[in-house]
Amino acid sequence: MDQPSVITIDGPAGAGKSTLGALLAARLGYLYFDTGVMYRAFTLAALRADLDLDDEAALAGLAQRISISVRPPDVADGRQYTVLLDTEDVTLAIRSPEVEQHVSRAARFPQVRREMVARQQAIGRDGRVVMVGRDIGTVVMPEAPLKIFLGASIDERARRRLAERAATDLDHVRDALTRRDELDRHVMLPADDALLFNTNDLTPEQEVDWIMAYIQHKERSFHA
Ligand code: DC
Repeated sequence: MDQPSVITIDGPAGAGKSTLGALLAARLGYLYFDTGVMYRAFTLAALRADLDLDDEAALAGLAQRISISVRPPDVADGRQYTVLLDTEDVTLAIRSPEVEQHVSRAARFPQVRREMVARQQAIGRDGRVVMVGRDIGTVVMPEAPLKIFLGASIDERARRRLAERAATDLDHVRDALTRRDELDRHVMLPADDALLFNTNDLTPEQEVDWIMAYIQHKERSFHA
């Protein structure tokens, strides 16, 4: 089958991007790359360095200095990958409530984003990758032959987050997601040629089956 060499998946928090991205990458034998981990690792580094999260120049300097790498999982704790900040394994630390709370703020500056985007594009250029984020189809890989923008209702996304995080307060999770949507809004827009996919009533397996069928149907036009 003639497959698209780069598939982008964008959409809001809790829409199911990482589940779908990892399944699709496994099905195609592609690299799965979740760009959110780069912004999270960067935010962790900024918090540790006690940087002012309103100081774009200081944050941009940090973004240029640090090394962030994402590797196949090397610990069997259910992780999809291992994230290294310089040489330290920060896979769990980047999911902390503190990082969660500050990441949208730290990620908002153009100079920081330029640095992260350049690194993501270097990975994308190698091809055979499913890249997941907010701005992948519009900014990072606008030439990707298959772009997907996932959506789900706020209630469904909150329910999924609740199950994922073993949290108990649905209203709290829903409020946190609504705040994050607001903060992420400026970087998150579907590309004009993205497939808009509502995942409310689909299981991840159904989504992958649908996309694989779509790829087979379109195979000739993916010749890039
Ligand atoms: O997908 P996630 O929740 O791990 O993303 C963490 C944050 O990083 C999110 O609030 C927005 C930001 N992000 C971004 O600005 N651009 C991306 N391509 C991916 C994530």
